[in-house]
Amino acid sequence: MNKIISFCTALLLSVTTFAVASDSSDKANRSANTKTTAGNVPLLTLNNGTQMPQFGIGTFNQGSDEICYNSVLYALRCGYRHIDTAHAYLDECEVGRAVNQFCEESGVPRSEIWVTSKVWPTEYGEGITLQAIDKMLERLQLDYIDLLYVHQPAGDYLGAWKDMERAVDLGKVRTLGISNFDYSDTMIDEFIPAVRIKPAVLQIECHPYAQRQKIRKIAAKYDIKTESWFPLGGSGKGNQTLFSDPTINKIAKKHGKSPAQIILRWHIQEGFSVIPGATNPAYIKENIEIFDFELSKSEMKAMRALNKESRFYIPHPDDLERFLNWNPDY
Ligand SMILES: NC(=O)c1ccc[n+]([C@@H]2O[C@H](COP(=O)([O-])OP(=O)(O)OC[C@H]3O[C@@H](n4cnc5c(N)ncnc54)[C@H](OP(=O)(O)O)[C@@H]3O)[C@@H](O)[C@H]2O)c1
Repeated sequence: MNKIISFCTALLLSVTTFAVASDSSDKANRSANTKTTAGNVPLLTLNNGTQMPQFGIGTFNQGSDEICYNSVLYALRCGYRHIDTAHAYLDECEVGRAVNQFCEESGVPRSEIWVTSKVWPTEYGEGITLQAIDKMLERLQLDYIDLLYVHQPAGDYLGAWKDMERAVDLGKVRTLGISNFDYSDTMIDEFIPAVRIKPAVLQIECHPYAQRQKIRKIAAKYDIKTESWFPLGGSGKGNQTLFSDPTINKIAKKHGKSPAQIILRWHIQEGFSVIPGATNPAYIKENIEIFDFELSKSEMKAMRALNKESRFYIPHPDDLERFLNWNPDY
């Protein structure tokens, strides 16, 4: 553990954080002439002009407050500059505490860390969501949120969006996103004409066995970037299924990388933003070590051929109703 921490501290000190590494040694980044953050993570330019680190850590199901705090702090020390949380994960306090601790100990300014959160349906509605955002900022102990999603397309999400637009006007939020807008194929097309500020990112389940071709095309029409949840298949059966896939293992062996790293590299080369969840420090470190190699065209083709459009989370027709009746308890 001490060894891992020393490694991360060395990495931290050796990079000019967030600065544009235009002379990056990473072949993949160099060839795309991509700007990168600490840890060599490319920056994606969103449809509102903001630049979001393409890779980060997700904090769903961290297990406890202390685990979440340690995971986020350790990830930041390893070079992560993007954290994905949500009101519903009940861990925003710990995420904010870790971000503030890291900024204090490292001197890295808050502006170099991308913090995402999500509003839950019980706090949707004009006049309600703006207050919920203020409470969220208090929980996070931050002055602004980089990316705010409507977590679920349930209830009055249009009313929520109006308040989220006001929050952008007031400088409380920089970028807006839609999460799980894949309950129908028409949801995004119907949403766009009704809003003033276009969503910049769509967060959906996406991994090699469910590559989400149809919904990605709809999002791309509006220059909305895809961000993958369950990028490794989620915890439990999902990731074990992906990690034992023979094609992924063959490619992993060739590059001397783990199956998880091959999957994450595939997400990056597809142009997705990706936010793998991890509590194990070895996994947190391993997951960011994907910017020193590249999958070839034929390897990308083999990865794409794994698509079965088979999700690990099976949406239920009652989901949206159920979400409206579940109140995140602080
Ligand atoms: N918008 C939504 O509705 C929604 C839904 C789900 C998730 N999300 C977001 O997406 C993020 C990612 O999804 P997720 O965390 O559920 O699933 P995931 O990232 O696909 O998988 C997480 C699981 O993979 C394990 N893992 C991570 N790196 C590994 C590695 N290198 N080798 C082996 N195992 C590894 C983790 O283990 P350990 O914990 O033991 O380290 C954990 O059990 C979430 O954290 C959350 O921020 C959003």
